[in-house]
Amino acid sequence: MGERLIELKEVKKSYGNVFAVGGVNMHVDGGEVVGLLGDNGAGKSTLIKILSGVVRPTSGEILVRGQTVHGWNAGKSRDAGIETVFQDRALAVQQTIVRNIFMGREITTAFGLLDVAKQRSEAERLMREIGFTSKVFSPDSIVGQLSGGERQGVAIARAIYNKADLIILDEPTTALSLTETEKVFRFVRNVRESGRSILFIGHNIHHVFDIAERFVVLDRGRVALEITKAEVGSAERLIGFMEHVAHPTGANPLDQAQNEAAR
Ligand SMILES: Nc1ncnc2c1ncn2[C@@H]1O[C@H](COP(=O)(O)OP(=O)(O)OP(=O)(O)O)[C@@H](O)[C@H]1O
Ligand SMILES: [Mg+2]
Repeated sequence: MGERLIELKEVKKSYGNVFAVGGVNMHVDGGEVVGLLGDNGAGKSTLIKILSGVVRPTSGEILVRGQTVHGWNAGKSRDAGIETVFQDRALAVQQTIVRNIFMGREITTAFGLLDVAKQRSEAERLMREIGFTSKVFSPDSIVGQLSGGERQGVAIARAIYNKADLIILDEPTTALSLTETEKVFRFVRNVRESGRSILFIGHNIHHVFDIAERFVVLDRGRVALEITKAEVGSAERLIGFMEHVAHPTGANPLDQAQNEAAR
């Protein structure tokens, strides 16, 4: 496992007297895929908005590679190598793949002109790197004509071009079919192979279970559970643990899991 990329200490965000995030401690290391889970309103989106610097925490500490960063904002988040693919406003669908990847950070020639050839070849390289295998794919394809999974791929390619060390995906597979979800998983695996980290937010525990190695479960703005895939063993058991955390009854299944692991 790589270095500690990002760490949150007692991070809180309140809206009026409601804590959307109420004292979260979590971290993401280099080269790992972390699944962020939790019910509607648990605080997942608020937490990633804090990580991407678009929402300022009310209090708490944010550390990048072990160093506390003061005055955390979108610029500092980008400097830290964090790129977020927001579900709703991710792409310009009327534009080409190339335009979408380089939007706002175009490659120019020494004369300040758009370097169309360089952008095309760079787009092709990025799409290959993340595992784009569609036969119809060309950097000049219009994004609106791509499938949902392929669109996520374009957004991921853009994040890689922006030199992301940590790519945050907010519910990337929620609206997708199984085949499209598989495409997103392939992209995520390739990103991980390249040593980058992914924070994967999802509703479907089976999806998140497949792709992540460690799980952080939020419940009413707090971390209710943090567990590795090796510790939990199966998606069904993870669901059981989450139910226990939300409605504790009887013996704690986590104790049982730890006993089994110790044996
Ligand atoms: N801008 C805001 N103003 C007031 N309350 C907010 C704001 N943003 C979020 N909240 C509240 O904070 C809580 C956490 O919301 P958040 O969107 O982070 O949850 P979530 O885990 O992403 O949920 P979902 O799974 O539905 O996307 C909710 O109760 C929500 O109503
Ligand atoms: Mg959300």
